[in-house]
Amino acid sequence: AVKGAFTIAIDGPAAAGKGTISRAVAAHFGAAHLDTGLLYRAVGAKVLLGMTPEAAARALVPGDLDAPDLRSPEVAQSASRVAVIPDVRAALREFQHEFARRDGGAVLDGRDIGTVICPDADAKLFVTASAEVRAQRRFAELRDSGVETSFEQVLADVKDRDARDMQRAEAPLKPASDAVVIDTSEMSIDEAVAAAIAAVEAARG
Ligand code: DC
Repeated sequence: AVKGAFTIAIDGPAAAGKGTISRAVAAHFGAAHLDTGLLYRAVGAKVLLGMTPEAAARALVPGDLDAPDLRSPEVAQSASRVAVIPDVRAALREFQHEFARRDGGAVLDGRDIGTVICPDADAKLFVTASAEVRAQRRFAELRDSGVETSFEQVLADVKDRDARDMQRAEAPLKPASDAVVIDTSEMSIDEAVAAAIAAVEAARG
């Protein structure tokens, strides 16, 4: 297991395989894992219920990350919209910093971990895949969980969120200059996880 406050940053667009890879990397290195998208989703969900984004972000408590409805496409779009607001990002920063400093190591995944939240991370990965492949995976997931949608709708949502996440002024989605880019378009889950673990081991030296 990794000693001390070892931090691994994993960024990338929606449905590229970040979540699966991050959980596997955390398990492999015996580190804790934070899906930072859940912070923005929890704020986005409260905004759909009528709160202002800033108040929702300031009032966020860790238990909010366990809310059952955070995976829906509506919450994902709301999360992407609140994530452009600098005061929202600022309110969520300290929680992420504290998590990153924990003993025993931490894996954080999101959009701006390697660039803004943990610029000194010990290893940085940028996990990506083509929009079509990502939409196909997300469509299959939604269909399997009983959500009625079409591939075209999911692809439009993915492209919409990519554009908003990449074009915002503060902490836009982009690879850190020192990140290892892993394109999972043509990889199985096992291949992607193996590539990620190898990249982290190489970065640790
Ligand atoms: O990873 P996700 O799909 O659960 O993230 C939902 C939205 O939250 C995403 O579209 C943009 C925002 N987000 C962000 O701006 N910064 C992060 N570190 C994580 C997510």
